[in-house]
Amino acid sequence: MTIPRIILLGYMGAGKTTVGKALAKALNLQFYDLDWYIENRMHMTVKQIFDERGEEGFRKIEHNMLHEVAEFEDVVISCGGGTPCFFDNIDYMNQQGETVYLKATPDVLYGHLKMGRTVRPLLLNKTPDEVKDFVSRQLAEREPFYTKAKHVIDVSLMDNYEKIAITVDNV
Ligand code: S3P
Repeated sequence: MTIPRIILLGYMGAGKTTVGKALAKALNLQFYDLDWYIENRMHMTVKQIFDERGEEGFRKIEHNMLHEVAEFEDVVISCGGGTPCFFDNIDYMNQQGETVYLKATPDVLYGHLKMGRTVRPLLLNKTPDEVKDFVSRQLAEREPFYTKAKHVIDVSLMDNYEKIAITVDNV
């Protein structure tokens, strides 16, 4: 890869943060998770931002912060699940780096989300069945944005995040 900036995208639960960390370590690059960057810069959690400013407010902040992080060099950046789907973010991401879509089926995503401890405002106050439906529907809506990434890796059958990181490194 010639550009020292790798940008991981994909739906919630695809493993962007875990893969990003492993990849950054393997390539000796700095790792940035966009949600964590937002939380540090805003001194608020993602949930607090959703609560106080709504999703619209969050998307504006996310857009601005993406433009800060994606200027850094020698980095692996993992974005939020919605990042590529608002404003012109996906085009900007493609312009700034090697974008990689970590693609997974709704069932796999749901399985990861069920196990995870991250608070995800979009999934709160839903029954397990509602979450399943929501994930399938929203994934279908978001796929046209995700598939604009320069590289697509199907992670559904990969159980080991280190393996995924190696695959990303080889694209
Ligand atoms: C979101 C995904 C989250 C976070 C926010 C909204 C989304 O990031 O940015 O809760 O719209 O898909 P992860 O994909 O890291 O969970």
